[in-house]
Amino acid sequence: MLTLRKPESEHAARQKTASHGDRLEKLATVTQETMEWPEMLTGPLEGRFLKQMVMISGAKRILEVGMYTGYSALSMAEGLPEGGELITLEINDKAIEFASRYFENSPHGKKIKIMKGAGLDSIKQLTGEFDFVFIDADKVNYSNYYEAILPKLKKGGVILVDNVLYSGEVLDPQSENAKAIHAFNELVSKDNRVEKVLLTIRDGVYFLVKK
Ligand SMILES: C[S@@+](CC[C@H](N)C(=O)[O-])C[C@H]1O[C@@H](n2cnc3c(N)ncnc32)[C@H](O)[C@@H]1O
Repeated sequence: MLTLRKPESEHAARQKTASHGDRLEKLATVTQETMEWPEMLTGPLEGRFLKQMVMISGAKRILEVGMYTGYSALSMAEGLPEGGELITLEINDKAIEFASRYFENSPHGKKIKIMKGAGLDSIKQLTGEFDFVFIDADKVNYSNYYEAILPKLKKGGVILVDNVLYSGEVLDPQSENAKAIHAFNELVSKDNRVEKVLLTIRDGVYFLVKK
């Protein structure tokens, strides 16, 4: 398999990036110890990036698709002002129970609302505009999430999409997930409705701005 991972530079980048603090450290450690698929957590480098993107965008209303144990949701909530709102969509009961405990114990947790269920069904129920979106759920639905969300994003609003390099598999997609992400990347790269930069942070983050 082709690989684009650069562990040494990732490590060096983490050393020079702000700390994520004790609460997120604990959340990450307990996720590693008690949950299946802990590698799904975005982690300190991308988490701090998400927080800063929320801050500089001035976002007040965020949608996240794929919460898992709440690491990225809490990271983005830190960047929201008081009174800001983050709606996060998650299908897994155990992840919801885990994340809820950490949200209750965080000063930023009150900004977060969890919607339980299949992401596409939840998106249909959402009303009002979003300023900022983070897509990080089932890869086979990336194109569907994108098309469902874009009409609900304000002009100038930001979409960040995680894992768009898929450990380099997108260069020669064989698995169902890699093929879906490859198709999504093709769709976005030709879509004139958005400005786009594919960032090589961690596993690849597509940074889109609605025109
Ligand atoms: C990569 S993890 C999210 C990681 C999280 N953003 C973080 O950084 O900590 C993907 C999550 O999407 C959830 N998921 C998968 N399919 C889903 C669906 N159809 N609707 C909603 N959530 C889904 C999974 O249960 C999993 O918790």
